[in-house]
Amino acid sequence: MGYLQGDKPISITKLLAMHAEREKITMLTAYDSTMSALLNRCGVEVILIGDSLGNVIQGHSSTTPVTVEQMVYHTECVARANTHAFLISDLPFASYGDPIQALDSAAELMRAGADMIKLEGGDWQADIIQYLVERSVPVCAHLGLLPQSVHLLGGYKVQGKSKDAASHMLEQALTCQAAGAQMLVLEAIPSSLGERITEELHIPTIGIGAGPDCSGQVLVLQDMLGISPGKPPKFVKNFMDGHQSIEAAVKAYVREVKSGKFPGLEHGFAG
Ligand code: KIV
Repeated sequence: MGYLQGDKPISITKLLAMHAEREKITMLTAYDSTMSALLNRCGVEVILIGDSLGNVIQGHSSTTPVTVEQMVYHTECVARANTHAFLISDLPFASYGDPIQALDSAAELMRAGADMIKLEGGDWQADIIQYLVERSVPVCAHLGLLPQSVHLLGGYKVQGKSKDAASHMLEQALTCQAAGAQMLVLEAIPSSLGERITEELHIPTIGIGAGPDCSGQVLVLQDMLGISPGKPPKFVKNFMDGHQSIEAAVKAYVREVKSGKFPGLEHGFAG
């Protein structure tokens, strides 16, 4: 710990140093100023302005209706109250179909206050990742369950379960890293695959349903506060259980990710 002392802004260099020292990275989503300020007070190092706002803010059943304009609005809201967390903003569905469009969309998010953009996909995004990085846009890749592809996948399903699918995902991760991605979100994959990919890469992996061995963890804020409607995914823990305030719940999340208590075995998937 110790990177938050004096409210110094968290840079990618600091996140990579934490990873090198095997300190777990804490990430949560936020979409507004109040929660941005609260996450900063609680010591969350990375705030993800996720396109999950399509679900939790806008009430859609998927993230596909979210636009760049809406991502810009929410990135600005979060950035206004941000004191030191590293901000990652999602490139929404169909906003990075080719390198030029990706750069235009990413530039809008960076101007709104993002420190890095996140995009979904593997080797088919390598050219776009490289193009963005060469033009000074830091990139976080996202593999495993890709919510923007839900209509193609036919639902929210655990990915990388077979031996072949697992090896293919590892190759995809290596390709994203080689293209210049500096971070990788792994969503809904077997814990053993989360561990394997984390061991093989030198960039940090951030898991959401990818087991305890990723370099850090992320959850959707509303999920970990237990206020999202419906049955939560297996990888979610309700941190409001046993806590009297949102602040106490978020601090517990930070503590449990740092100590390795969260995610437990019960939050993971078998291969
Ligand atoms: O949009 C989002 O909140 C995300 C997380 C699920 C990682 O991409």
